[in-house]
Amino acid sequence: MNRKGVILAGGLGTRLYPITLGNTKQLLPVYDKPMIYYPISVLMLSLIREIAVICSPKFLDQYKSLLGDGSQFGISIVYFTQAEPKGLADAFIITEKFIGDKNVCLILGDNIFYGQGLESKILPAHKRSSGATIFSYPVREPSRFGVVDFDKNGNPISIEEKPSSPKSNFAVTGLYYYDNKVIQIAKSLKPSKRGEIEITDINLEYLNRGLLHVEDFGRGFAWLDMGTHDSLLEASQFIQAIEKQQGLKVACLEEIAFKNKWITVKKLLEASNKYSNSEYGDYILKILNKGI
Ligand code: G1P
Repeated sequence: MNRKGVILAGGLGTRLYPITLGNTKQLLPVYDKPMIYYPISVLMLSLIREIAVICSPKFLDQYKSLLGDGSQFGISIVYFTQAEPKGLADAFIITEKFIGDKNVCLILGDNIFYGQGLESKILPAHKRSSGATIFSYPVREPSRFGVVDFDKNGNPISIEEKPSSPKSNFAVTGLYYYDNKVIQIAKSLKPSKRGEIEITDINLEYLNRGLLHVEDFGRGFAWLDMGTHDSLLEASQFIQAIEKQQGLKVACLEEIAFKNKWITVKKLLEASNKYSNSEYGDYILKILNKGI
């Protein structure tokens, strides 16, 4: 199955000012690695190897110097710029040529997904060749998100973007798997009241066509989006707590690449030498020595 990955890392991050005046949110640290490593790891766990990063032109060079062409992770990364945020659905218009006739997975550059059942949820979505799969997650303040409501059999019946009176407490998370029709759907959308073309309108279109699958991540799983100073700090503390307790890293891209057999021992060794002064490098060395 050939599916391309798109990471949306544009946006001004104004809720994080002044931090994001001179930097872009998705390159800020989340404990021991840049934020964008986390969504890249989800795509890699989904077995997606061709990835486009959409960013603001101002930060393009920083992304390139961090991630390069992706070959160090056994993947390919290309870059697209978005001068101003026009909505999540714009991602499919910007990357139309990159997606070509393939299916696509969009993930938001500031979302962390972590939990035991992750691969068992995302791999079936990846393998589904037609329609759309999105993921819900119970939250305390649903009105901050896209909200999906279900009938008594668990089938989705409505999706609303940031409703003032949410019909359920299930937020739509920032991970979306679509067939190739998403490009035409995105192109047909009219901007919403906030002047953006909304991913929620794409999902509604699939819902109306009877082709929307909604999977719930449920309790026991962690979905974090890092739009505010508090949520950014909490995400770092969350990753720190897990990594310290287990001695395992979340979103070590070299580890995932090696386990997927996308990079050789030689590449792993190169990474461990490059990062030899850091704990991240020590961790890669442990993988090399089969300690992990
Ligand atoms: C966007 C989507 C929303 C979704 C959220 C997930 O919101 O529009 O439906 O629930 O991402 O993070 P935004 O980041 O534009 O506020």
